[in-house]
Amino acid sequence: MLNVNDTLQEVKDDQKFVSIIIPTFNESLNIRELLNQIQFNIPAKTNVEIIIVDDNSPDGTGLIVEKYIEENSKAPKQKLISKNVLIRVIHRKEKAGLIAAIVNGIGLCKGKNVLIMDADFSHPPEVINKMISELKKAPNCIIIGSRYVDGGAIDGMSFKRFLLSQGANWIARHGLSLKNVYDPMSGFFAFPKHVLQDVEFNTNGFKILLEILIKKNNNICVKEIPYTFRDRKHGQSKLDFSTIVDYLKAVWKLYRYGRKSKRQNTQSESRKSVKFISKAARFYTVGASGFVLNYIISILFSNGILGNLEYLQATAVGIAVSVTTNFLLNKFWTFEDKNRDLIRSIKQYGMFVGCSSLGILIQFLSIYFLRESGMSYDISLLLGVTIASVSNFLFNKKLTFKENIWE
Ligand code: GDD
Ligand code: MN
Repeated sequence: MLNVNDTLQEVKDDQKFVSIIIPTFNESLNIRELLNQIQFNIPAKTNVEIIIVDDNSPDGTGLIVEKYIEENSKAPKQKLISKNVLIRVIHRKEKAGLIAAIVNGIGLCKGKNVLIMDADFSHPPEVINKMISELKKAPNCIIIGSRYVDGGAIDGMSFKRFLLSQGANWIARHGLSLKNVYDPMSGFFAFPKHVLQDVEFNTNGFKILLEILIKKNNNICVKEIPYTFRDRKHGQSKLDFSTIVDYLKAVWKLYRYGRKSKRQNTQSESRKSVKFISKAARFYTVGASGFVLNYIISILFSNGILGNLEYLQATAVGIAVSVTTNFLLNKFWTFEDKNRDLIRSIKQYGMFVGCSSLGILIQFLSIYFLRESGMSYDISLLLGVTIASVSNFLFNKKLTFKENIWE
């Protein structure tokens, strides 16, 4: 994958304010008119570079752009259409996906800022002006053309497409915790190039903005500018089944990325007390789940649904199942022990059962001594259960999972 960091240095001594990157595949009926309109909508005195990244479109889009440049310029391939606008085309060998094309464009562009848009007029060129002035006002923000903030809309999208878009949006906002961004799936957005420092792209498909937001740990200023998304008039959408599969794969990758980086952050930042408390909280959550499971399994094995056992036998099955699930959950979740070696796990299991039995013994003993020393039964019970569950956690932490008590 191309890493845009390599090219960030170049930007420093370049005077282009923004590079508008337009990926194209079979956009022959749109591209000329789009180039005209973009130039018409660039704010005065702003130096702009327009880069068309074409994946060898069979309909000749790339050649049409070459011609457009030639017609308007003497210097081939690079054209100063008006004093402030330079147009370039990048010819790629084959159709290798929207994200790849955009990343390629970003890697080769000279702008201090980058603006990404589609070639099919779904992203209205009139909005570019506003986005560029926002970039000037807020030089550290991602500016997103948004369909889902006040004033934004979708015009002429098929119902199926609308549902897909809404579903994908919901997954991103809730599954990936991007609740503060209303249109993280937008393909129309702008940002200062330095935002991409340390970002390496490794998803395919259409959702490059989503990847940027997640890799920035959702920790970057975002401004959403409303616009109306219009369905394309010419040509066909390239969004197909494989784009949806790519999307789901990307969400999965980004989800795991988010969790990993969150975990790394808390571990390097958090004090021992935070780790201790969070492990204790998990341990007792597991305990509560075991309690419920124990009850349900015992019932199901006695009432004929899973078995028709005597009540004592059913109780034994309930205990065996819940002790086992408790063990597994504590091993893999509470104490994050990734080692799956069977012998080691069986030994740990034995130790876990031992520590839990020790807990029961401690409960009996402490209740006995407290009660005998004159304390009422309900208070003795409360203290006894507390002492037993605290020692249960500490013994398992130390003896079963071989951790220091205080970490
Ligand atoms: N170079 C290149 N290579 N360009 C591509 C490729 C590719 O493989 N696939 C698509 N494009 C170009 C198209 O020519 C167009 O300019 C732009 O990328 C978007 O492609 P469309 O096929 O028109 O996408 P869409 O309208 O279905 O999706 C758009 O709207 C979505 C929001 O509903 C995109 O902007 C998505 O990013 C956006 O999420
Ligand atoms: Mn489109």
